[in-house]
Parts: sequence; C-alpha cells; structure tokens
Amino acid sequence: MGQFVYTIAENVMNGLASYAYQEICLAWGVTDELNKLKDTFSSIKLVILDAEEKQRKELRLSQWLGKLKDVCYDVDDMLNDFAFKELQMQMLILRGRGSIKEQVRIFFSGWNPVVFNFKMGHRIKEIRERLDVIAIEKSQFPLVERAGDWQSQSVPTERETHSFVQAYDVIGREDDKKQIIIHILNLTLKEKSRDVQENVSVISITGLGGIGKTTLVKLVYNDHRVVKHFDMRMWVCVSDHFDNKRLVREIVASATNQNCGDQESFDRVQKKLQSALKDKQFLLVLDDVWDKGQIGVTTAKWIDLKALLNVGANGSKVIVTTRSESVASIMDSVCVHQLRGLPHESCMSLFIKRAFDRKGEEQRYPHLMEIAHGIAKKCEGVPLAVTTMGSLLCLKREKHFWSEVRDNDIWRLPQGNDDILPALKLSYDALSSYLKPCFAICSLFPKDYVFRSRFSVVVDGTRLHSIL
Ligand SMILES: Nc1ncnc2c1ncn2[C@@H]1O[C@H](COP(=O)(O)OP(=O)(O)OP(=O)(O)O)[C@@H](O)[C@H]1O
Ligand SMILES: [Mg+2]
Repeated sequence: MGQFVYTIAENVMNGLASYAYQEICLAWGVTDELNKLKDTFSSIKLVILDAEEKQRKELRLSQWLGKLKDVCYDVDDMLNDFAFKELQMQMLILRGRGSIKEQVRIFFSGWNPVVFNFKMGHRIKEIRERLDVIAIEKSQFPLVERAGDWQSQSVPTERETHSFVQAYDVIGREDDKKQIIIHILNLTLKEKSRDVQENVSVISITGLGGIGKTTLVKLVYNDHRVVKHFDMRMWVCVSDHFDNKRLVREIVASATNQNCGDQESFDRVQKKLQSALKDKQFLLVLDDVWDKGQIGVTTAKWIDLKALLNVGANGSKVIVTTRSESVASIMDSVCVHQLRGLPHESCMSLFIKRAFDRKGEEQRYPHLMEIAHGIAKKCEGVPLAVTTMGSLLCLKREKHFWSEVRDNDIWRLPQGNDDILPALKLSYDALSSYLKPCFAICSLFPKDYVFRSRFSVVVDGTRLHSIL
C-alpha cells in the first residue's frame, strides 16, 4: 500500500515548486494556499523514507503511508486541473474571448473563472485539512528524518557497477559436488533393482531459495568427468509452468542447438526429441521445478515427459533442482540431495570477496571484520543473502553502516516459506528511492523472464527510462 510514496511525493513536490505552477497559482490567486500545502508536504516528506522501511513491522504506518499516497494523487490531479484550465483560458484569449453568446455560456458553466476559483479553493482546503491530519499523525510514529538515500549520499555510482561485475567464484560445496557426481556416474541400488525398461532416473537437489542449488548443479554439469561420461547434456530452466509442450521444445533446442519452428506440431517436435536422444546416454538438468497447483509439475505430466525421454540409453540421468520436497517425490527421484547452508567460514570468505575489491584489503579493517562475522551469521548459510550483504556494503567503510545492517530489526522477523529473505529486503531498502520502483516493476514480469532489449515503462505517472 505504502510503496514508492517517496517517489510520488517527490514528483508532487517538484510539481508544486515548478516555475510553471508558481505562475499558474499566481494567476489564479491561490499562491498562499499552495505554499502552505508545500510547507506541510516537505516536512512530511523528510520521514517518508524511514516510514517506508518501517511499515512492514507496523500496520498503522502502512495505513498512514496509504493515506499520504492518496493525498499525493489528489494534489497531482489538482495541479493537472489547474494546468488544464490555464490552457483553456489561454485558448479563449487567443480566440479573442469569442462571441457575447459564448462568453455568457462560459460565465454560467464550470468554465467560469470565478466558479472555478471557488471550487478550487474548496478543493485545496479539503486537501490541506487531510494533509494537516497526516502531519499530526506523523508524530505518533518514531520516525527519523532523512533528507535523501543513504546509498546515494556517498557512493560514486561507477564504482558500484564495477563491484557487481566481479568474476564470480563458487566457494565450498566440494562434498556436495562429489556426492552428486557419484550418484550420476554410478547406478544406485534402487536403479539396479528396477525394471530394465527404466532408462532414465531422477536425482533431485532440494533446498531453500538462494541456498545455491543451481550453482551447485552448474558445477556438476561442467565437471570434466560428467562431460566425458554422457553422450549428450541438456539444460532447461523450468520455472513455475511445467508445460510439456514447451519443455520438449526446449530440450530439443538444447540437444540440437536449433530452435523448433513456431508452426511445428507437437508430434513433429517430439519425433525430433526421440531421434536426438535415441540410444544416447544423456544428462538433462531441469532447473527450478515447482509444484504450484495445476501449472506446476504433476505426476501425470511427469509420466508423460518421462515416457518421451525413455528412448535414451540406460543410465541417462535427470537432475532436478527444486525448493519443494514434494516435487522430488512427484518426480520419483532415486536420490534426493538436501542442500544445506554454507558453513560460517565459507560465508565469511564469500562475504569478504563481495565486500572488498582487492584480496587482503579486509585486513585493513579489523573493526569491520568483527561486525562482518555477525552479519554472516545472520545470513544463516544462504549464499544469496551473503552475496547481497557483501555487495551492499562493498563501498562502505564507515563502521555505523555495517552495524546498522547487522543490528537491523528485519533479521528478527519470523520467516515464512514465501517471505522475502531479510537480506534481500535490507538491500531493497538501501536502494535509491528512484531505483525502488524500477526494481519493483520487474516483479510484474513472470519468473525467469528473459529480457532481450532495453525498455522503459511508466509507473505512477513517472517515466522510468531504460530499465535494462
Ligand atoms: N557456493 C557458492 N559460492 C559463492 N556464491 C554462491 C554459492 N552458491 C550460491 N552462490 C550465489 O548465490 C546466488 C544464489 O544461488 P542459486 O541461484 O544457485 O540459488 P538457488 O538455490 O538455485 O535459488 P532458487 O531456489 O531461487 O533457484 C547465486 O547467484 C550465487 O551468486
Ligand atoms: Mg535455482
């Protein structure tokens, strides 16, 4: 409800302060009223960033931000109405004020400047009263004034970009990798006791979001023993929709390096699949499988797909990554590898790698390293959280930033399965206010959506240029 209020309020403030509006307000004789509105607005605006961060814990704060957002929209509408009427007036002047008949009609209609002024006066008064109530309510919350974003205060943006393109190294996971490779290169007891007609078996990697399932499978997929062992390797990202028609097309594309034509029938595509896989020992990775109702994987869908894959040679393997244990059972896995969090030392190495540009640089900051241990612990072994925190602090060397992250209340929030990781929420809060809507607009796109070009969108009347 209270999302992006800061951005919206800033737009409204810019509108109120713009020269064009100052002129319009002067012409309509409402300058004093609008100046008072502007003053109240700017005193409230100082605490919006803090309120946006704290609203998660305090429902009343979220409602307060919602009310403020409504007022912002109303002010915006009002300014637009002013501008529109001004334009109408100028048109009238240009046309020499029209005939007497026309002027009489205008006098008795809503166009009449006197009537308009009266109506606007009421409107401004009503908005001001609502805003005054909001300003009084503000004092009920322990909000801290913030003039801008803490990230934009001291960070040279070009350095930030540099830190995000650092070469990526996987830390730890040697044992997990070894175990999975053993599973895929050898037949398990369960497989040996199976009907010989079952040529394909499934190994599932389960674990929390961001724990490193995909990263681990990439390590396995590219291991030289695995490359050598299989005649063919294919990688398909499944995501929410387990749609056999799409998956078969993508498996064919991955196997043959050629996309299937849009017009090709499913029957033709599945024949292509059969001829590509026939008698070949293959490894297929199905990354990020979900079982969300009918759109996710179901036993029936998996049986259908597995029947098509069964033309492969005996010993072919499917590796599935999923957050859900039930996906592993729906897909009749011969082995389920539950991926645990990284140990503390690995989290620390990863954090240091992300937080410091140069190797060994961390030794210059022993006071920060003490705090880093606390932050790494709070990430509970989730590399995505560790990476995010390291990147967040990579250009900050002031102790208070680091302590602020470690001691933030957000770590204490209870975590449900579908809740956002506290580390991600923290890094979102630290985004510049103009970047928050840019980031959030991406949530409108489906999971794993491939962005192919630059695009720009309009959110809350704000044009967000070239997001990618
Ligand atoms: N062992 C590791 N060493 C370094 N970084 C890692 C490691 N594992 C994961 N990461 C980092 O964490 C991020 C999340 O990892 P990954 O995408 O593999 O998680 P996941 O378990 O597949 O998550 P999801 O359930 O959302 O698919 C990666 O982009 C990578 O930057
Ligand atoms: Mg993944």
